[in-house]
Amino acid sequence: MIADRGAPLFDSGNTRDYNHATDSNYKKLRAEADALYDKRHKLSQQLQLAYKLGDGAKAHELSEKLKKILEQAEAKNRQAAEYVFRENNTDSAEDEIDLHGLYNSKYKLSNGYQIPVAGFGVYTVPEGETFELVYEALVQGYRHIDTAYFYKNEEETARAIHQFLKDNAHVKREDIWYTTKLMNTTNGYENTVKIVEETAAKVKKYIDYVDLYLIHSPKSDRETRLGTWKALQEYVGNPSNKTLNIHSIGVSNYGIKHLEELLNWDGLLVKPVINQLELHPWSPQLKLREYLVKHHILVEAYSPLTQGVKLNDPELLQLEHTYRIPKAEILLKWSYLQGFIVLAKTAKKERIAQNLNVLPKESNTQDALDVSSHLGKVDLDINILDALNKPDSHEICTWGGEDSTLYEDPK
Ligand SMILES: NC(=O)c1ccc[n+]([C@@H]2O[C@H](COP(=O)([O-])OP(=O)(O)OC[C@H]3O[C@@H](n4cnc5c(N)ncnc54)[C@H](OP(=O)(O)O)[C@@H]3O)[C@@H](O)[C@H]2O)c1
Repeated sequence: MIADRGAPLFDSGNTRDYNHATDSNYKKLRAEADALYDKRHKLSQQLQLAYKLGDGAKAHELSEKLKKILEQAEAKNRQAAEYVFRENNTDSAEDEIDLHGLYNSKYKLSNGYQIPVAGFGVYTVPEGETFELVYEALVQGYRHIDTAYFYKNEEETARAIHQFLKDNAHVKREDIWYTTKLMNTTNGYENTVKIVEETAAKVKKYIDYVDLYLIHSPKSDRETRLGTWKALQEYVGNPSNKTLNIHSIGVSNYGIKHLEELLNWDGLLVKPVINQLELHPWSPQLKLREYLVKHHILVEAYSPLTQGVKLNDPELLQLEHTYRIPKAEILLKWSYLQGFIVLAKTAKKERIAQNLNVLPKESNTQDALDVSSHLGKVDLDINILDALNKPDSHEICTWGGEDSTLYEDPK
């Protein structure tokens, strides 16, 4: 099946409701785009065959044809997206900037804050190395860093941001996004207050406020989870009786039942804006993502490179061989094209730029709606998506292989 590349990007990247985009103009444009993608799919099979047979001339001819068809398909897709955008857009022009699929793109959260789409994760980055690595990530262009109490580098991360801001006066604190998470084994009201206070002591001197604080995992029980949320929401909005100002709060590894529990809770004052999940082609979490879109909760993809576990998967290696794109880039590209906020980690300085450069640095066009073509730095995206679109599955590479979204309370 040909991937529908327009809808997921817009739906998950922006909290607009496109459901009523069912009129005939929109449908016609999308059908025309789909027909072109179908045509392209067939041509790409021929191209693969030409590569296999070593027929360079034929491969060249086919790849030129493919390029043209992709351009036509994307133009149709763009017109369809533009049509829907105009129908639905009630926001200011500022939002249009956010639709660029560039490395410095931002997605708008349901509370109005804007989060950079490219995130740099620091899980397993040792103490003593985090400062330098985060500083380098900021130099390379990352504006979003993901840490956690558990990673033991909340403070170093904050210190690197502070130093970078000091050295680069044109970059403001509000340009950089700092996420941290609670200790994953200490949910509950009192524990949460304790951990947040510890975070405050470590980071406030450097970054003043925390952009996003997440519950790391639902593991505990209903009362404990809701106690955690009760404590977290007391820190939102800079209350004068609290030591830390947290702009947004969210969850991680939450399944539908945990979200239902929270969203239906009568003590809910601040809604979760994000669910951070293990997401990659072997764990696409389709049902859960559908639920999140419906509830305007954005999706952050952690372990988009599967912590390296699937980097030698035969299908992935075949794609790398066919398209001559490094496998890590293929996985990151897949993730961005799903519309996720992507958190990638590397402890190797030279890989920072490589991972970030999956998103282009400059736009060739002024068209803010041209998301798909900006995201596709190299051609043949649609085939990569197709090849990696798998049925819903939960092949978890973290947490000892356990899918925390399926966590059941102990009886
Ligand atoms: N909420 C949660 O429960 C949770 C769980 C896990 C992770 N996270 C967050 O998500 C972030 C990313 O996930 P992750 O750290 O688990 O794993 P990941 O980003 O999927 O994978 C990191 C692994 O990929 C390798 N790698 C990175 N870039 C590469 C490249 N260009 N080519 C080849 N290999 C490459 C890294 O090796 P090198 O370091 O040697 O480059 C490392 O072994 C974490 O740092 C953390 O912030 C959250």
